[in-house]
Amino acid sequence: AAGGCLTDVDGHSYIDFTNDMSAGFYGHSNPVILAAIRGALDKGISFGGPHKHEVALAEDICRRFTSIERVRFCNSGTEANLVAMGLARAVTGRPLVLAFHGGYHGSLATYVNVEAPLNVDKLQMRFARYNDEKDVLRVLEECGAETAAIIVEPMMASGGGILANRAFLAALRALADNFGALLIFDEVVTARLSPGGLQDLVQIRPDLTTLGKSLGGGLTFGAFGGRAKLIDRLDPSRPGAILHSGTFNNNVLTMTVGHIGLTQVATIEALQAVNARGDKLRHSLLKVATERRTALSISGYGSILSLHFQPAAPRNPTEITTTPTQRKLFHLDMLLHGFYTPRRGTINLSLATTDDDCEAFVNTFAGFLDRYSAFLPHD
Ligand SMILES: Cc1ncc(COP(=O)(O)O)c(C=O)c1O
Repeated sequence: AAGGCLTDVDGHSYIDFTNDMSAGFYGHSNPVILAAIRGALDKGISFGGPHKHEVALAEDICRRFTSIERVRFCNSGTEANLVAMGLARAVTGRPLVLAFHGGYHGSLATYVNVEAPLNVDKLQMRFARYNDEKDVLRVLEECGAETAAIIVEPMMASGGGILANRAFLAALRALADNFGALLIFDEVVTARLSPGGLQDLVQIRPDLTTLGKSLGGGLTFGAFGGRAKLIDRLDPSRPGAILHSGTFNNNVLTMTVGHIGLTQVATIEALQAVNARGDKLRHSLLKVATERRTALSISGYGSILSLHFQPAAPRNPTEITTTPTQRKLFHLDMLLHGFYTPRRGTINLSLATTDDDCEAFVNTFAGFLDRYSAFLPHD
């Protein structure tokens, strides 16, 4: 892979609109990132102790995310969410966490199907409908006194690229406060949408934020942070500290690359440009669909677009009417024409995606709508 392109083992090339499920935000083999990895390798991979690169990355994150006064590192978004939920339980002394139907917080906390066999803490989770504050209140009226935290993706990623209404997030903030629970924003995917994450765009401050994916520059990464008072409970130099450990929590490669990525690659200008490119792509895709009277809605934000073959964008996963067959057709037809997209219909731009890539995508997409018109809904 290089820049915005992938080549498979059979020699077929694809323009990449998957970009490692959004983690490959910097594009493949970005020269600045490659140089950072090589430089780090030359100085030793793992030190078994604190080092300056983790301090630099921690400072970058605290500078960017106003709600993050202190941050701790781990190795994946899943781990960040599990530790954040555990911390909420430990500091509140309450057992339950409220999450949302269709939410995804990692391989051990997947609520796309709340019965997922590998999920942890199954009996200590409660669920409400996304973008529905009345339903959240209903659940909290039943079990608010035992609820340690509400965990929410400000934009449901795996659940369909569904953006939370600002009013919904504001209601969660108020409800968490009223019931004495913490509010956790899972920004593993959405952190890349603005310099301070989605929370900055909506101006709502969670108590804890979890991070992952692109903030590690494309390498293994997880982090969680928030109010100093909460994160300081994990500070091993304090009496009665809650243990949070992990051999590779501050692995040198990720810490170095994360810092270089945030300071030299994911600049404010670069984020604005990629989001603007995403908005332009969204507009063009909707235009070719409208011209063909194909029902299409595109949810998501900026550089992350989620395509649904239905007239109205879903407000929660139950409103998704696009069928798995339609998604499969789209995925396979785009592959056949040289575009790598995730099967679930979300497309992720990277900083290496060009206007020409987007234009070519729109033309091929128009062809897809024509080729499979009989299988797609119309207005
Ligand atoms: C919103 C969200 N949270 C958490 C995760 C889990 O991150 P990881 O795959 O690094 O464990 C993902 C992964 O897709 C995600 O989309």
